[in-house]
Amino acid sequence: MTVLFDADEIQRRIAELAVQIEADYPPDEEVHLVGVLKGGFVFMADLVRAMSARVTLDFIAVSSYQQSTKSSGEVRLVKDVDTRLEGRHVIIVEDIVDTGLTLTYLQDILRARAPRTLRTACLLSKPSRRLVNVKVDYIGFTIEDQFVIGYGLDFAEKYRNLPHIAVLDEA
Ligand code: IMP
Ligand code: MG
Repeated sequence: MTVLFDADEIQRRIAELAVQIEADYPPDEEVHLVGVLKGGFVFMADLVRAMSARVTLDFIAVSSYQQSTKSSGEVRLVKDVDTRLEGRHVIIVEDIVDTGLTLTYLQDILRARAPRTLRTACLLSKPSRRLVNVKVDYIGFTIEDQFVIGYGLDFAEKYRNLPHIAVLDEA
């Protein structure tokens, strides 16, 4: 297992992202973050704590990868948000954008709820793997085509609890 980003590097980058995100919205307007379970939960937890009090949050769960490092290309909604998104500044918070299929699906269903604005924040991006052209407004780190684990990201549901992001060599 090779460490790509250690815990300190991740925190520093998230602090920068939080500053960037906050600067993009009027200071008196609420921002509603929608975290994508399960992979996005650690990033979400650190990102909201780096942001100001005008943040609210919710979670949505989708399933795309089935016990392997290859996507089936199929996205399924497992848990919807509990709150209305109409008229709100919504930011999707996701661990990684790979083919882009998951985010395209999420952006489509959330856009249909008529948010005032809809943006996307991803901790990681693998642009060389993109199958669909999806807009990601905030990206933490751009990486090569390698399977990564830790900091929320799993391989067969394991390694989500690692404090760093590492490359899974055997994949
Ligand atoms: P996409 O739909 O192909 O963009 O895949 C997005 C989802 O696949 C992410 O939310 C992750 O759950 C998963 N995924 C993609 N690449 C990796 C990886 O390198 N490690 C762990 N999960 C990944
Ligand atoms: Mg995910």
